[in-house]
Amino acid sequence: KGKRAFIAGVADDNGYGWAIAKSLAAAGAQILVGTWVPALNIFESSLRRGKFDESRVLPDGSLMEITKVYPLDAVFDNPEDVPEDIKTNKRYAGSSKWTVQEVAESVKEDFGTIDILVHSLANGPEVTKPLLETSRNGYLAALSASSYSYVSLLKHFLPIMNPGGSSISLTYIASEKIIPGYGGGMSSAKAALESDTRVLAFEAGRKRKIRVNTISAGPLRSRAAKAIGFIDMMIDYSIANAPLQKELSADEVGNSAAFLASPLASAITGTVLYVDNGLNAMGVGV
Ligand code: NAI
Repeated sequence: KGKRAFIAGVADDNGYGWAIAKSLAAAGAQILVGTWVPALNIFESSLRRGKFDESRVLPDGSLMEITKVYPLDAVFDNPEDVPEDIKTNKRYAGSSKWTVQEVAESVKEDFGTIDILVHSLANGPEVTKPLLETSRNGYLAALSASSYSYVSLLKHFLPIMNPGGSSISLTYIASEKIIPGYGGGMSSAKAALESDTRVLAFEAGRKRKIRVNTISAGPLRSRAAKAIGFIDMMIDYSIANAPLQKELSADEVGNSAAFLASPLASAITGTVLYVDNGLNAMGVGV
């Protein structure tokens, strides 16, 4: 029987979320996505107009089907959390039921259960600022959007996840090694995400036999990465210094996620899996 996946953090065909959706679809999973509310209209109209059709092609020649797109803002857990200025914001007014709890309820109503949960989202409003210049609000916003959003998603989806299921997030080596330029508390947010991966693996494993892992991905020219401003340099650095001297493709991360989500990884939980051409293992650049 085919599995069902919910992938949070897909708003175009350039990021890791899209690539993960494709690899899961190629392996036979049904695909549901959660798209950030302000990006929803462009994403849905681009999908409808066929703008992503070339990137929808799967290895067997068929096109990936996205069964349903849910509006989502993962910094809000339930309607009581939503402040007035967001409620009345034009970019949110056209959508409804986009808090984490409401999205999980909608997925339950529509499909009953899922097998795979993917968190492929992050946001740090002060990411271009060094940590020493980051405000308290900027730091907390990075943690809220990039770390707690995962705790919240897993908490709300866990009751509808089938035992044996798998949950995956995306992290970055800046959590454990100094990467100047990955600021605004984003390095802190990834450190929290990795630590939470271990604790959540224990809690979700004991509670519902769900595995919890995170992929530490190498650099990819996604929309989010371009906003940080140093992505081309990181890609060049990796090609120059990693054991495997090639550009990392989003598909390589997608395929690793499909492995982690599959029964082939049935004893793997609580881990950080590096999918970065081996760059993490280098001590010096050569
Ligand atoms: P992306 O731009 O494709 O994905 C980020 C997504 O997060 C976007 O679709 C955005 O709309 C969404 N988002 C932001 N705030 C949100 C919120 N409050 N609620 C719901 N959605 C929200 O970029 P990318 O790079 O593929 O990012 C996916 C994950 O991969 C992130 O966790 C990122 O930190 C991680 N990653 C990216 C690397 C890179 O070089 N691109 C390297 C290592 C990890």
